[in-house]
Amino acid sequence: MTVTPAHAPALRKRIHDALSRVWIGPAETLDLLLTALVAPGHVLLEGVPGVAKTTLARAFTSTLGGDFRRIQFTPDLLPADITGAYILNQRDQAFVLRRGPVFAHVVLGDEINRAPAKTQSALLEAMQEQQVTIEGDTLPLPDPFLVLATQNPLEQEGVYPLPEAQVDRFLLKIEIGYPTTPDERRMLETYDQPVPHVPQVLDPAGILALRAASASLHVSGEIKDYIVAMVSATRTHPRVRLGASPRAALGLMRAAKAMAFWSGRDFVLPDDVRALAGAVLGHRLIVTPEAELDGFSGRDAVDDTLRGVPFRGPGSR
Ligand SMILES: Nc1ncnc2c1ncn2[C@@H]1O[C@H](COP(=O)(O)OP(=O)(O)O)[C@@H](O)[C@H]1O
Ligand SMILES: [Mg+2]
Repeated sequence: MTVTPAHAPALRKRIHDALSRVWIGPAETLDLLLTALVAPGHVLLEGVPGVAKTTLARAFTSTLGGDFRRIQFTPDLLPADITGAYILNQRDQAFVLRRGPVFAHVVLGDEINRAPAKTQSALLEAMQEQQVTIEGDTLPLPDPFLVLATQNPLEQEGVYPLPEAQVDRFLLKIEIGYPTTPDERRMLETYDQPVPHVPQVLDPAGILALRAASASLHVSGEIKDYIVAMVSATRTHPRVRLGASPRAALGLMRAAKAMAFWSGRDFVLPDDVRALAGAVLGHRLIVTPEAELDGFSGRDAVDDTLRGVPFRGPGSR
């Protein structure tokens, strides 16, 4: 069966319903996960401890099917603990490959900033190349291959911030905040039970079909101009030291297609781009040291850009 955008909203609702069994929070957060799934791109979930980052990531992987592995990042985790290694088989004195946990369709890299840069980069290289090299042998990773990583933004002892060049490998950074008061109140009532079963909704072949359908969506010239103007404005923003890369521009277009797809449309609207600019671009910008001291973030620069760059085309406003 060929997948079309007309199939997407019902699937989206099933996944939202499944995730709502264990997680309470804004629907936009779930839509961002779905957007990354088909765009496709990897996701960084950021938030303080106890806001259910791990719970949400695990629940999402349950809906996806396929092989799932969780890697708990710790200060003593080694690159080979992620990718794998050749080990000596005592019986026949031969080296055999022990594949690491990265060989899965969905990998949860939990608390990724607790491991040193060298270990983080083992995962980040896998994300970029969809393959790993172990002692000179290059091995492909499964398809689809999706990484969900979590991190705590607070400066703490023993935390290694992801280098900027590597943060760029994540299509989206999703910020998980505190629940609203009514949500938190409802959480106390609803989630005071053992975590319920989260049903599987998709499978690997289905995910590939969704990705192909999303990739074939139409993007008008005006939308492409809008994306380029926005990315370019981040590079000249006075409080930004490093603006968004061409990779970010491509990521924004792919993500906008994915969002249109989940809405059941076969074309992208400026609102798709607006809704995603913060999550796609914000984490890739490096602000000037003075701006940083003022508490001005990459997200703030994206907000300025959204206000300053008009969309020119049908339905302009
Ligand atoms: N928004 C929420 N919805 C449902 N449960 C929540 C929510 N926020 C926190 N919890 C509960 O709080 C606990 C902490 O979740 P966890 O996923 O370990 O957080 P984190 O990974 O962000 O530190 C879990 O038992 C989770 O069910
Ligand atoms: Mg956690």
